[in-house]
Amino acid sequence: MRILGIESSCDETGVGLYDTERGLLAHRVHSQIALHAEYGGVVPELASRDHVRRVVPLVRETLAAADCAPSELDGVGYTAGPGLAGALLVGAAFAEAYAFGLGIPALAVHHLEGHLLSPLLSADPPQFPFVALLVSGGHTQLMRVSGVGAYELLGETVDDAAGEAFDKTAKLIGLDYPGGPALARLAGDGVAGKFKLPRPMLHSGDLQFSFSGLKTAVLTATKGPNWQPDQCADLAAEFQEAVTDVLAAKAFAALKQTGLRTLVVAGGVGANRRLRERLNEMAGRRRIRVHYPELEFCSDNGAMIALAAGLRFALGEKGSREGRFAVRPRWPLSELLPPNAAA
Ligand code: KG4
Ligand code: ZN
Repeated sequence: MRILGIESSCDETGVGLYDTERGLLAHRVHSQIALHAEYGGVVPELASRDHVRRVVPLVRETLAAADCAPSELDGVGYTAGPGLAGALLVGAAFAEAYAFGLGIPALAVHHLEGHLLSPLLSADPPQFPFVALLVSGGHTQLMRVSGVGAYELLGETVDDAAGEAFDKTAKLIGLDYPGGPALARLAGDGVAGKFKLPRPMLHSGDLQFSFSGLKTAVLTATKGPNWQPDQCADLAAEFQEAVTDVLAAKAFAALKQTGLRTLVVAGGVGANRRLRERLNEMAGRRRIRVHYPELEFCSDNGAMIALAAGLRFALGEKGSREGRFAVRPRWPLSELLPPNAAA
């Protein structure tokens, strides 16, 4: 089966083409970073309008790259939530109309399911069951993943997501949007430990996270009497170390609790080099395998949506053929049904 995937939940328009026998055939992403940069964050209305401009050309490019005619498609998957309502509506409207026109089914995909399954796109994919550390701009969750649609929440953040903490802290110290990667780059020039930041909830005895206090601690540090702006890199390094310490400790606690030996890291913060180093270091000592999506599949993309839809279709899910749709800007992953239950 050949499945087209459409992602438009936030500030990337992504299109992927996944073949359930041959794997990913092609994908294209258009990032709106330049569009939102001057506003210091994502402007929802601008995001929606840009998705409108990009989605059709990206679909054409993706199909052309794989030499695939629209008539060869068997289904279309699209991100129906969570995300920005207007942005989601663009992808949903396009996908449902396109599928309806072609007489093939359309399937509403949960964005986080796309992230969770994205490591399966790599050449050496993980086997179920595994523990997933999902760290994106909107979510920080630990999950037990036993199969497609079988996700058990083990713990999550009680306030800011890890990516959100990176973005907000970056803004505090004057870095441009998107702050996460910029903060990580700056941290590379600094030394962790020169400042002392807290490791929130490190010893809470559960798998919950909290990151909003860290941002406040950074703000306090920059207001101190001895603060010099040239200390930004050291502060960034300590911030990154604090987030990494907590994420790594809780991920390994989740492995211990579940008795599983495979960890999968997904979402934009999964691109962070220090986090990867730390997890690999800890895994080596404990004979744990850690899988990461390829860097291009860590941030939002259409390939992971095509994959999630393809796996669900392959497991018998039918999708819809009526061209009707509704998006779910807030859609808890716990409400997602396994494919056989939804079919
Ligand atoms: O998964 P994603 O692309 O979008 C969401 O679904 O949220 O994640 C984006 C988040 C942003 O908060 C961004 O700052 C963060 O991932 N991020 C990073 C890095 N690259 C992206 N955070 C830390 N280090 C990075 N290298
Ligand atoms: Zn995402």
